[in-house]
Amino acid sequence: MADFTVPSWLPFADRTGRVPLIKLVAFLLCIAPAVWIGVQWQMGWLSPKPVTDILRQTGDWAMRILVLTLAITPLRFTAHWNRLYSIRRMLGVTALSYTVVHVIFWFWQQDFEWWPIVMEMVLRTYLSVGLAATLIMIVLGITSNDWGVRKLGSVGWNNLHWWVYPAAIASLVHYFMLIRLDAYEPALMAGLLALSAGFRFLRKRDHSFAPLSLLGLAVLGGIATALIEAGYYAYSTGVDVHRLLAANFDFTYKIRPSWYVVGAGVVLALMRWWRKPAVAAKRSARSDTLKVSASSPASR
Ligand code: HEM
Repeated sequence: MADFTVPSWLPFADRTGRVPLIKLVAFLLCIAPAVWIGVQWQMGWLSPKPVTDILRQTGDWAMRILVLTLAITPLRFTAHWNRLYSIRRMLGVTALSYTVVHVIFWFWQQDFEWWPIVMEMVLRTYLSVGLAATLIMIVLGITSNDWGVRKLGSVGWNNLHWWVYPAAIASLVHYFMLIRLDAYEPALMAGLLALSAGFRFLRKRDHSFAPLSLLGLAVLGGIATALIEAGYYAYSTGVDVHRLLAANFDFTYKIRPSWYVVGAGVVLALMRWWRKPAVAAKRSARSDTLKVSASSPASR
């Protein structure tokens, strides 16, 4: 982006110290929620219990950014946008940072009384599950650099970093166990996570490149989201699950999360469909150039 260089350890710099636009924008977006929380705190715009407020807001952002981190691979492959890869680590570390701040605010809420804190973490399932997710994320964060790849080798590194999925699932379980009234956002996060996991599954079987497979994934992701949301409400309120599922087709109040998940899956399929001819044309143009240059007198 710019011709000036900065120290290469800065999160928005590349290895040479240059600042790619994509990294700078991603960095600003990553710190925006923290800045906003800080402003609300300073201006006294939080509730009468600011520590609890910040505990909740940082938890929400940790979850959202974790789900976004997992969406990078599907986006990168369907849009053929390899530069997205350069921000994946930044997003992962940001999710971890919001999680750490979240946990620190919980310690604060408990007045840093360590013995009750340990007891709560052991005895309350939603906290034990959150702790498990946090510990996995810390290990992944520590090994997410060149040193980690060197130490573990690429196969070992990939195997270890597969654990981001169990960490995300544990975080979701923690989230679902804490729902007070509204399961809208947890269901949306679960659906988007299912979409990313489904993409990974298709990729392993080499189907991720067919737009039709991606459309099928979109529909399945939507159905999974609707079932998770309805299942949660049916379990917690006892309302008939059929009525809850039917709410997905009532658009008078609020579009249900299942439709956003279908939409996200359709976007992946469209990107795949739209980018495929362009990439194929580029490849064939390149191979034509190679053929011409191979048969040209200069190359003989
Ligand atoms: C040791 C680890 C953790 C502890 C002790 C912890 C603690 C808590 C507590 C006490 C709450 C309830 C706040 C309230 O409603 O009063 C909460 C909410 C939440 N936590 Fe955690 N958490 C941990 C890990 C995580 C992780 C790893 C994530 C996700 C990456 C996460 C995401 C959330 C979310 C989304 C909420 C709900 C926020 C809301 O009500 O809007 N937590 N956590």
